[in-house]
Amino acid sequence: MQKIKVGILGATGMVGQRFVQLLESHPWFEVAELAASPESAGKAYEEAMAGRWKVSADVPEYARRMKLRECKPTLNCSIVFSALDAAVAGPIEEEFAKAGYVVSSNSRNHRMDSDVPLLIPEVNPEHLGLVKTQQKLRGWKGFIVTNPNCSTIHMVLALKPLMDGFGLEKVMVTTMQALSGAGFPGVASLDIIDNIYPYIGMEEEKVQSETLKLLGKFGSNGVESAKVAVSAQCNRVNVSDGHTECVSVKLSKSATEKEIIGAFENFNPLRQLKLPSSPQHPIVVRKEADRPQPKLDRNLEKGMASVVGRIRSCPVLDYRFVVLGHNTIRGAAGAAILNAELMKARGLIG
Ligand SMILES: NC(=O)c1ccc[n+]([C@@H]2O[C@H](COP(=O)([O-])OP(=O)(O)OC[C@H]3O[C@@H](n4cnc5c(N)ncnc54)[C@H](OP(=O)(O)O)[C@@H]3O)[C@@H](O)[C@H]2O)c1
Repeated sequence: MQKIKVGILGATGMVGQRFVQLLESHPWFEVAELAASPESAGKAYEEAMAGRWKVSADVPEYARRMKLRECKPTLNCSIVFSALDAAVAGPIEEEFAKAGYVVSSNSRNHRMDSDVPLLIPEVNPEHLGLVKTQQKLRGWKGFIVTNPNCSTIHMVLALKPLMDGFGLEKVMVTTMQALSGAGFPGVASLDIIDNIYPYIGMEEEKVQSETLKLLGKFGSNGVESAKVAVSAQCNRVNVSDGHTECVSVKLSKSATEKEIIGAFENFNPLRQLKLPSSPQHPIVVRKEADRPQPKLDRNLEKGMASVVGRIRSCPVLDYRFVVLGHNTIRGAAGAAILNAELMKARGLIG
């Protein structure tokens, strides 16, 4: 099979370099273009990444000598993965979609647009139905599909089987989010060493609103938000990669702890599709009293799983648990790649 040429917008950032790493030897996609800000354009990727490459020992061989381009829709590819700074992502992604590119984006800018799918392949694949509406309404040849915020995605992967099995009424979540989630150089060292930073701008709002769209029903009028009360408190902690979230839920039906564990462990709606980046177990349940932990569990299933543990009853709501997930793999670049794989499997990408 001839590989599909793809580009990475924002290839020099924390998420961009994850794309560069994860797309090395992808069976369907071949990185043909790397793009970043006008200041980086023209440099060889390896040169631009000096002191900034953080995800493995070395920049992959294929990318080293590639010349960075500007983020203009003249790139030689049909799909672009966007890891652009949210300050600039909105109009750049629109220009690409207008020019006929498929845009698989990590940025927040278009996530809540009513005609843009906010997608987790295991949770709401039917929301891809919005693509037709988007192209019709905007007169675009291409389109934009987004993945959720890095905390939302892991929590919603865990909520979906509970909602399907027992109904879901209320969710309370407290996040402990890794430093790589703030980009590079990100949070100042003196703000985070020996400290917890109890504020991440707009994060709580994103977790609350994106959850309702993701769990919403797709119909002829678009996506109807789920009727669930969600309360989020978000904190930055001194961990390099991996967001940990303490979640309490109120369910509509009673459920035993065994049934809850079964719902998590049996959740794998993509099993038949065999997408290249699909984890074998989207939700891994750890039974030990002291797991999941970011250092030990973030790379399970190559960073594509949400790892759940400490499942127990909650004296205020019904159940509580801890969910952990890699924020730049399943929480960002890996999510956008899996979204593109689903689009290809559904015939939206040629
Ligand atoms: N980090 C995470 O865990 C995470 C998770 C989910 C979603 N996200 C989202 O993903 C996006 C990228 O996050 P990040 O953490 O990777 O940020 P980052 O490290 O700050 O990288 C930002 C990227 O945007 C590029 N850029 C900046 N200004 C530009 C311009 N005017 N034109 C074109 N490119 C420009 C930068 O290029 P230069 O290097 O040339 O300046 C860089 O490649 C953000 O929207 C973020 O909210 C991040």
